[in-house]
Amino acid sequence: MPLSEFELAVLRARLADAEETLRAIRTGEVDTVMVAGKEGSQVFTLEGAGDAYRVLIESMNEGALTLAADGVILYANHCFARMVNRPLEQVTGSSFYRLLSTADQTALRPRLKRMTKSGAKIQVMLNVVGGAKMPVQISLRLLAKYGSNRATIGMVVTDMTEARRNEEQLRALTHRVVQVQETERGRVALELHDNITQLLCAVLFRSQALADSLSTRDGDAKKEAVTLRGLLGEAADEVERIAQNLRPSILEHLGLGAALRETCNEFAERTGLSVTLTCPALADRLPPDTELALYRILQVALKNVEQHAKARRVTVSLMQAKGFVELVIKDDGIGFEHKAESSKRKGKGGLGLFSMSERAGHVGGAFTLKSAPRRGTEIEVRIPVGPAAAAA
Ligand SMILES: Nc1ncnc2c1ncn2[C@@H]1O[C@H](COP(=O)(O)OP(=O)(O)OP(=O)(O)O)[C@@H](O)[C@H]1O
Ligand SMILES: [Mg+2]
Repeated sequence: MPLSEFELAVLRARLADAEETLRAIRTGEVDTVMVAGKEGSQVFTLEGAGDAYRVLIESMNEGALTLAADGVILYANHCFARMVNRPLEQVTGSSFYRLLSTADQTALRPRLKRMTKSGAKIQVMLNVVGGAKMPVQISLRLLAKYGSNRATIGMVVTDMTEARRNEEQLRALTHRVVQVQETERGRVALELHDNITQLLCAVLFRSQALADSLSTRDGDAKKEAVTLRGLLGEAADEVERIAQNLRPSILEHLGLGAALRETCNEFAERTGLSVTLTCPALADRLPPDTELALYRILQVALKNVEQHAKARRVTVSLMQAKGFVELVIKDDGIGFEHKAESSKRKGKGGLGLFSMSERAGHVGGAFTLKSAPRRGTEIEVRIPVGPAAAAA
């Protein structure tokens, strides 16, 4: 019996569907197919559908693993086996925890147990055969969850040796720059003091003699000589101020409190900003390195306030508690610029923040910066002193 037009149209549509499915299977767009039958739908998994992913994972330059929630390695790629210097057969089926120190195990365990879809990142040291340790970053992600205590976790392990080395080199370089800066400042201060100030004083003395030798009858000439003498006096004071900032003898002679006060007063006078300093009398002198670090950090922070913050008020506080001394510099300015803008400026960054962090780190301290657009900036430096410093 010939088929009706309608039946032919239905058959043509089913044929087009089937052809589309075959095309998608061939190109790897699908890896499972659901076929509707009389007893409901049946799911068919296509063999080899994961090949493309497997090739990708095996060609990665990072370790890729799947773990059970108890840390047993269900799958690891060859790169990970090479990282830990073990045969792949030994790695698969063993516990990931065995590759970590006890402290790192303690850090990782709760994260694996309470794994969420959004994932987590953690830095640990991986035990490599032969006793070596490799700094790695682990990115974790929940792949599947079966019931309340069974899950499969995906893990990507990135070797951070190179990144750590670069970080250390950068730190050493910054330290060197800060040291050279300090030496150079000392040299310039000495040059200014020994040559320029001496010269200015000689000229000042002569101009004073000139002013004295002229009588009031000389009129304008006498007036000019007196003005000249005044200007030379100001220039000599200014050069002394610069030399003083470059090599703070006040720090050596009168201590940190006086040096911080002098810096704040001079800053407030020059910029017109309101500066409030809270600085209790310190019981003892701090180690010279710590005093110099705090003094220089204040100078750099105030320079940044002047150059970038558009602030009206600055508060500076020095606090000594048991085992540490803390300096906080806070402004009410525009805060750090938006991320997008700051990434545009990347590479053009200055040295100020680096040098503050380096100076704090050099004396065993911590440098923290808190800032948000239009919310001002706060710099906190905490340095251990006394027995705590020795322990640090
Ligand atoms: N108090 C502040 N308020 C707002 N922005 C700040 C403040 N301090 C620093 N910044 C921002 O951080 C950037 C980096 O500061 P940093 O002191 O490291 O470099 P710089 O001041 O640009 O150059 P340099 O200190 O070498 O002269 C600044 O360019 C500025 O955008
Ligand atoms: Mg700066």
